[in-house]
Amino acid sequence: MKIVTSASELDEGCTFIPTMGALHAGHASLFQLAKRKSDFVVASIFVNPMQFENSIDLDLYPRTPDQDIELAAASGVTHLWLPTQSEIYPENFPKVSAGPIGENFEGANRIGHFDGVVTVVSRLFQLVRPARAIFGEKDFQQLALIKELAQRSFKEIEILAAPTIRESDGLALSSRNVRLSQSDRTTAVVMYRALLAAKEGKDIASSLSAMHRVFKEIPAFKLDYAQIIDEDNFAIATDSTPNQRAIIAGWLNGVRLIDNMQMSPALISAGAR
Ligand code: PAF
Repeated sequence: MKIVTSASELDEGCTFIPTMGALHAGHASLFQLAKRKSDFVVASIFVNPMQFENSIDLDLYPRTPDQDIELAAASGVTHLWLPTQSEIYPENFPKVSAGPIGENFEGANRIGHFDGVVTVVSRLFQLVRPARAIFGEKDFQQLALIKELAQRSFKEIEILAAPTIRESDGLALSSRNVRLSQSDRTTAVVMYRALLAAKEGKDIASSLSAMHRVFKEIPAFKLDYAQIIDEDNFAIATDSTPNQRAIIAGWLNGVRLIDNMQMSPALISAGAR
């Protein structure tokens, strides 16, 4: 694996996985998927200040450079790009707005977050010019916004979604999990339990109450939202929405956690599923 500090060292046409480092098995699964797609796999590590609401959260974001290099090399990355702040954000760089989908759910709770995400992804795409890019379903709203961004401004880049990787007890892998204490780590499984409960519901109303029932049992988890949305436009789903997904987010002792799960098949026709 070659480590590069400038995108000018990369040829165009790669399969690209942008990251903020603190790499884990979830990232490894994206790299492995990329390796199956092409021989030229570029991963970037850039902790993007623009997508953090405050400097405390930015400072607390885990940084594990040595482990990251090891994991990337072992998982099929051929070029690891460690951009500088000035390469990504030269003077007067164009800022991109996330638009309406970016205003709800995570967007409403983390003001400016998605503008920061789409701006950095747009800069990364301009610099790398990949053939395709892979993003995890774990950040489902981010994925929707990046698909929209590509549709609007980078039609030549194929956006691939990769499934969420979970621990054996169901907790979705996230770089933020390392900030959980041992007991909070156990409590965090409430999100997975709530999603499974939602999947059992016979219609949206019963899925929503099932999720809320699970969260009520665990007051330590400060729920921000638990909703069922239309995957295609992030509007609140109705019983006739074909592609529904439950999305949840909340706080556990100062650590923000999110998760989501497809509710399938759709609840249409007499609530049968
Ligand atoms: O999902 C992430 O790690 C980040 O939001 C991304 C897409 C690399 C942009 O900084």
